[in-house]
Amino acid sequence: MKDKVTIHTLKRLKQSGQKICMVTAYDATFARILDEGGADVLLVGDSLGMVIQGQDSTLPVTMDQMVYHSAAVSRGAKRAHVVGDMPFMSYQVSPQEAVRNAGRLVSEGNVGSVKLEGGAEFADTVRAIVRASIPVMGHLGLTPQSVHKMGGYVVQGRDEDAARRMLDDALALEAAGAYAMVLEGVPLELARTITQSLKIPTIGIGAGKHCDGQVLVCYDLLGMNPDFKPKFVKRFANLHGNITEAANTFFDEVRAGTFPDEDHSFKATKGIRLVTPTPVVPDAEVAVEGAEKVGGIYGAPV
Ligand code: KIV
Repeated sequence: MKDKVTIHTLKRLKQSGQKICMVTAYDATFARILDEGGADVLLVGDSLGMVIQGQDSTLPVTMDQMVYHSAAVSRGAKRAHVVGDMPFMSYQVSPQEAVRNAGRLVSEGNVGSVKLEGGAEFADTVRAIVRASIPVMGHLGLTPQSVHKMGGYVVQGRDEDAARRMLDDALALEAAGAYAMVLEGVPLELARTITQSLKIPTIGIGAGKHCDGQVLVCYDLLGMNPDFKPKFVKRFANLHGNITEAANTFFDEVRAGTFPDEDHSFKATKGIRLVTPTPVVPDAEVAVEGAEKVGGIYGAPV
């Protein structure tokens, strides 16, 4: 196994000019595939509220849900650094609550760091979490938890005043101890200025090519939802099409009676003769010497 990625690896990647590759993951299977595919960072994003739960926003996502998904992703990740998102209202009330909740993501979700949205107003919170030895990734620009304040999911920092405020926010978060920063929905010129002004890496989503790394929601880059096509998303696969085709073929074969065929069925051991009707008992399969192995269930390897 290649060396585990840490927050120090990410800093070195910025210094050497190598781009950081981050992607969201919400379960162990996707985490394993994306980790083996070369992700440096797996983000357990609160975007799971939308892509997993089908909510309209990230606001309903809870701490318990983030802990649950973080633990699943951490089990699947071997090399990548795993970041757990702090959900809405898990860090806004007080730095003490923020530390407690960040601690849950580390101790129960097994993540290597946490991410929270917001600028200089959260500098004390970032400082408190970092003081508890939990690394923090910042998140500026289009911050989805502030959807009501922003009046929608709109690009931020387009005029000079807003751009200046975002640069100040970035510097304040870095000074508070953040080890990296997501820039979301930001003009590429501003993202370049922020990236050049910080020693810590920036990771962009809808923020242009000058950031130190890039992140996308895995379901978006894999083309799972044909109805969602914002400007910043590039589809690198068409899994919606592939899944639909595979499912249709399965349904066709079931309806035609061609699945399961002999290759996918078990045979009785020689000599078994049922002389009386046997009551149906769940788990009545008996291990018979020489019997075929069933294999894993639900794709788990044995
Ligand atoms: O929740 C999320 O997936 C995120 C990324 C889009 C940066 O915050």
